[in-house]
Amino acid sequence: MIDDIERIRAAAPAAVEAASSVDELRAVEADLLGRRGSLTELKKGLGALDPDARREVGAALNLARGSIEELVEARRAALEGAERAAVIAAERLDLTERTGHRTRGALHLVTQTWDRLVDVFIGMGFTVAEGPEVETDWYNFEALNIPAAHPARGMWDTLYVDLGDPETVLLRTHTSPVQIRVMTETPPPIYAVMPGRVYRRDTADATHMPVFHQIEGLVIDRDISFADMAGTLEAFTSAYFGGSIHSRLRPSYFPFTEPSAEYDINCVFCEGSGCRTCSQTGWLELGGCGMVHPNVLRNVGLDGEEWTGFAFGFGLDRLALMRHGVDDIREMYSGDVRFLEQFPS
Ligand code: PHE
Repeated sequence: MIDDIERIRAAAPAAVEAASSVDELRAVEADLLGRRGSLTELKKGLGALDPDARREVGAALNLARGSIEELVEARRAALEGAERAAVIAAERLDLTERTGHRTRGALHLVTQTWDRLVDVFIGMGFTVAEGPEVETDWYNFEALNIPAAHPARGMWDTLYVDLGDPETVLLRTHTSPVQIRVMTETPPPIYAVMPGRVYRRDTADATHMPVFHQIEGLVIDRDISFADMAGTLEAFTSAYFGGSIHSRLRPSYFPFTEPSAEYDINCVFCEGSGCRTCSQTGWLELGGCGMVHPNVLRNVGLDGEEWTGFAFGFGLDRLALMRHGVDDIREMYSGDVRFLEQFPS
């Protein structure tokens, strides 16, 4: 038996060394020391020996076991270290890769424009409200005095959502439904702007995107006149674009405002003298506005004899494009870093 033990002990270093992974080592360890391992098998023979021999063989077994355990532990530490090093090497990130490039991120141009617009209006005493992008027919059309089958529904190419009855749930086509939400939720006086994402069934081209942004304005108070609206839009124009840019209103039509107007500003490129961007007119069209229609006030339960107000809405993306002289709205949504990097803050 002593010879058997010695043979096992002598063969152990080579077997342990041959294990090339922690898993393989576990198998070798089981062969040598495990419950069915060779040393354990020998130990089972101890009972048949006389006491002296048993003591001698037992001591030899324990010695062999101890030295093999040490070998296994040393090998395990080496293998684990190597495996960890391999994982670290494989997961290594080369953070020096972009050295020399500007790597700091920035807010998207749309977000920057959104923030600046909101800042200007907050400075003028407005609050900010937002509403859901998935709307019902009531908020997007009906409450805004655009009944079903009204020809004005043709002004908005609506994307409907397959929920409820056909054509009752939709992606809002403008931010005007938020006017309705604000008026139903807060008692006047109201001075609020409502920026947000809107959707129209348009094919993307240089001036259209199926997803874009608007900012809506709403004022409801006593004795609000068309002149208050014109003055507010003029004050906003010079605050946002600078003192040399002015606004003008042209008669227009929206079902939810009466009278309605188109809101233009001096061309920000030629400052009114006429250039290619403004087709030599000196003016750029920004959005729509008007006095809140009595039917709209009625729909939200406001007394049109007591309260009057105005609303306006314009394209936020368009504004950013104009401000920065970008000639294709698709640039805004291409995610191209070469474009985005030009608007670092
Ligand atoms: N909602 C209108 C549009 O999307 C703009 C508008 C808003 C007009 C408020 C008048 C008053 O075209």
